[in-house]
Amino acid sequence: MMSGQISESKINEVREQTDIVELISQYVSLKRSGANYTGLCPFHSEKSPSFSVNSARQFFHCFGCGVGGDVFSFLMKTEGLAFPDAVRRLAERVGIELEEHIPSPEEEMRERQRERLYRVNEVAADYFHQMLMENPAGDPARQYMKVRGYGRKAAGEYQIGFALDSWDGLKKHLEEQGLAATDARTLGLIRPGKQDRGDYDLFRGRVIFPVYDLSGRIVAFAGRVLDDSKPKYINSPESPIYHKGRVLFGLYQARQAMRQSGEVLLVEGYFDQLALYRAGFPQVVATCGTALTSDHARLLKRYVQRVVLLFDQDAAGKKATFKAMTVLQEEGVPAAVIELPNGEDPDSFIQGEGAEAFRDRLEKARSVMDLFMDDILAEAGNGIEQKVRAAEQIVEQISGLSSELEQGLYLKELAQRSGIDLEQLKQVNKKAMGRVQQPKKLNYSAPHLSEDYPSPGATFTKRGRENSAAPGRQIEAKPEWSRSEETLLCLLLQNHVSSKKIITAGGLDLFTHQVARDIAQILLDNSTDSGLDIESFIGKLDPDKVRLLTALSIHDQGQFSENIDALFTGCLNALQRERNKRQRGELREEIRRSELAGNQEQVKKLLEQFKNLK
Ligand code: UTP
Ligand code: MN
Repeated sequence: MMSGQISESKINEVREQTDIVELISQYVSLKRSGANYTGLCPFHSEKSPSFSVNSARQFFHCFGCGVGGDVFSFLMKTEGLAFPDAVRRLAERVGIELEEHIPSPEEEMRERQRERLYRVNEVAADYFHQMLMENPAGDPARQYMKVRGYGRKAAGEYQIGFALDSWDGLKKHLEEQGLAATDARTLGLIRPGKQDRGDYDLFRGRVIFPVYDLSGRIVAFAGRVLDDSKPKYINSPESPIYHKGRVLFGLYQARQAMRQSGEVLLVEGYFDQLALYRAGFPQVVATCGTALTSDHARLLKRYVQRVVLLFDQDAAGKKATFKAMTVLQEEGVPAAVIELPNGEDPDSFIQGEGAEAFRDRLEKARSVMDLFMDDILAEAGNGIEQKVRAAEQIVEQISGLSSELEQGLYLKELAQRSGIDLEQLKQVNKKAMGRVQQPKKLNYSAPHLSEDYPSPGATFTKRGRENSAAPGRQIEAKPEWSRSEETLLCLLLQNHVSSKKIITAGGLDLFTHQVARDIAQILLDNSTDSGLDIESFIGKLDPDKVRLLTALSIHDQGQFSENIDALFTGCLNALQRERNKRQRGELREEIRRSELAGNQEQVKKLLEQFKNLK
């Protein structure tokens, strides 16, 4: 066994590449339950499942015995391994080389190339932007953007640019900057000309949108013509730094809002993304001229609990919607859909009807399966045979849903709408399920974490939960904190409420119990502008804190995403009341002591204070 340090970046890489649900499934039968998976805890004996795995956050936690952590701690506990050995074991599993790695000359070259490519894109973006903002020849583009509702400010905010209608403006500019033509060619920004005409620019006479990756680097561009000529859009080709199946336009800017709202609006067009973003729906992304891939779906799953599809209202859009539905379903992401009037896209709808009308539609978004059912049944009409075929097609889709409950509901709905007997539909569904790979189903229902408002869950305070942990395995005492404190921490940790809001409301002073205060301190210290990313700092904390944080973060967000503002205010009020009560108790005690001491003056003063507190 090798010794020596494993670098933090390698450890993170292994953690990222390992799917916790898959890993734990080898030891525990897991059943999906909302955003989490549940099963019987492998660390203490129990009859009803308290063990929960959150795939988006890649944590596990047992609400029965309190064990929790990430993929490494799971393996350490189940296999009795030391940390480095757990890392090695998992690294091997996902094929990551841990041995001190000396990059080969080729690898070094590739890395240097990538750096150069980012640089070229950056210079190109600046150039395009400059053309739109300053260059006299940019006038037609400025006119065009103005008509579409984008003035200087908006163009600046979104780094929109313009590629002049010239043969090789960008090519020359890059040359002047001393940047290699080969790199620009690799990026597709310039293309080799035929015969003896020199290289030429890919984007000519087009408005330019830069496409960012998750680190905020520009990986590609899209360019739109100013008139009706074809093709309407040109997109950067794939390159060593750009894979369109893994990049979403706007994700870099949208992800915080996505985390906060728990949802993402998925649109088809660049202008649609911008329009919704500007209209007060910042949780919006677009695919870059391509269909939704499962990589996209997995990416979205890291931030949201549901995807709202907003594709064009035409046959192609419908097709894309149902295709996306299947992709999302396979990744276990619930999908809803918003329908717009015929011929409209989100951009034109916002322009014509305004943000409020859109909000209305968003509130009325319905599940895609619902739309699918309507659509297929309507198409089939009333002929018996067509109807049966339609029903089969729908059941096929239903059988791919990961929740059996959900399947049941849709089957019932289908029975109602199609007039086909429910029992028969169930039979067909069973057969279809046999064909698709299903996760193992168990016969119990998931433990309900949440009992009553405003607590997101009775995690640590729930009474009467049996705990038959073997002696020695028993996890230490449950923390002392109030439900409101717990809820507040949850809201903060899951990015439902910003650290700023907590600080404005009183910050650490809100928390009275020491443990809650400690956790709050950690969260406030580690929050950034884009919210809290627990994975980025959890590695530095001691195991006790890790345990609490994973427990908090694994709360099913869906359970309290309904009305965050009310929940937040409710917590603040409760904490205020608590503090008030405590202070009164202290005063009462002091008054009693003063009375005993016969200090009438003091008693009077304290009574006054007591009255004020009320
Ligand atoms: P649309 O044709 O619906 O255009 O293409 P749009 O987004 O509404 O654009 P505007 O409002 O007319 O300016 C939807 C998306 O499909 C891709 C682009 O990503 C576009 O935003 N597309 C479309 C291409 O990649 N190439 C094309 O030629 C057309
Ligand atoms: Mn449009």
